[in-house]
Amino acid sequence: MDLEPIIKGVVAKNANPEGCRKALKEQIAYVKKSNQIKQGPKRVLILGASSGFGLAARTALTFGGSQADTIGVSFERAPSKDKPGSAGWYNNEHFTDLARSEGRIAINIVGDAFSDETRQQVIEAIETYFEGEVDLIVYSLATGLRPKGSGEYWRSAIKTIGEPVTGATIMLENDEWVETTVNAATDDEIESTIKVMGGEDWESWVDLLINQEQIAQGCQSIAFSYIGSKLTHPIYHTGTLGRAKVDLHQSSHFIHRKLANFGGGGYAVVCKALVTKASVFIPAFTPYMLALYKVMKKKGTHEGCIEQMQRLFTENLSFESAPLVDGERLIRIDNLELEPSTQKLVESLVEQMDASNFTELGDYTGYKQEFLKLNGFDMSPTV
Ligand code: NAI
Repeated sequence: MDLEPIIKGVVAKNANPEGCRKALKEQIAYVKKSNQIKQGPKRVLILGASSGFGLAARTALTFGGSQADTIGVSFERAPSKDKPGSAGWYNNEHFTDLARSEGRIAINIVGDAFSDETRQQVIEAIETYFEGEVDLIVYSLATGLRPKGSGEYWRSAIKTIGEPVTGATIMLENDEWVETTVNAATDDEIESTIKVMGGEDWESWVDLLINQEQIAQGCQSIAFSYIGSKLTHPIYHTGTLGRAKVDLHQSSHFIHRKLANFGGGGYAVVCKALVTKASVFIPAFTPYMLALYKVMKKKGTHEGCIEQMQRLFTENLSFESAPLVDGERLIRIDNLELEPSTQKLVESLVEQMDASNFTELGDYTGYKQEFLKLNGFDMSPTV
């Protein structure tokens, strides 16, 4: 591979188109040989379809047994004369190409999912390609910004609520362990994070499609959430992001009631912590991830986005029977991460981990490799 990755902090500045295709083909091969999704949805709208859980859901539903046609919305950069495209841009292109080669429809709408223009494009695409109805809406946006209108934005703040927390963030750019203090959020920051990452926008999408009479009988909608363990609670679950996720869980109940009128339902799906473009941004989270990857790989319980999504649609949100939910009506596919024996080992590794030993104690090699792979750089890291 000629192209070298360019990383600034924890952000990849370029992507390798051929590597993105290879990674996607690997995911397709995985779902083809896995347990197949039975009686799955045929017309699926995915908001946030170009990477992470959204792309994995799209792949599982198209190639993993359901043979779904998809409309995927994402916010990605096309290549220009002086800049390569973003990885998600190439993922979209390759996905369409590979899906079409198997006779499936895969439409990409690239634009801001919060905008009226994108919403209009989606409505038109559902009319044109899905005969006017959707069977499943997957909401998988991860973003730091939501427009308020008139040029202003709500900005999410990844902060604690109450006390500050100190932890390490590892700069993927130079493999450096950086001690970070995450400060407590103001009330405004909490509210803005809920606006950006909570359930309001998800519900507005469902409302839009109900109003447009584009909801098929039995239509379901899902959005992804994270809870984690006591090791991550201060920075996630009891922080601003967790507050936004509680809001998302609340919205799932409202959506459920609305979709019940069509014989369907709405669910928040609680996933495992994984390396994605969005998650590497979370400060003071990396030591936990490194320890988790190490322990789960050793135990043989590690899953990536694709394994999580194929399991979701074959076991937890199987279309043949009622979804498996917990006491709070959440679909839990974070069960393997939260196994007590796993958490005990992770805790012990996190306690011992520091700047001098994180590459040995944690699975930094696997973590970085996965990050590079998201951008089409499927090669061994430098450490
Ligand atoms: P990701 O960064 O890989 O994907 C985000 C997607 O949203 C991309 O397709 C991107 O193009 C799209 N997007 C962002 N802003 C947009 C906008 N304004 N308009 C249209 N599309 C936009 O993120 P990831 O990690 O897959 O996150 C998806 C969801 O899963 C989030 O709700 C996240 O909180 C949740 N989650 C993630 C976990 C993780 O460890 N990565 C764990 C549990 C839940």
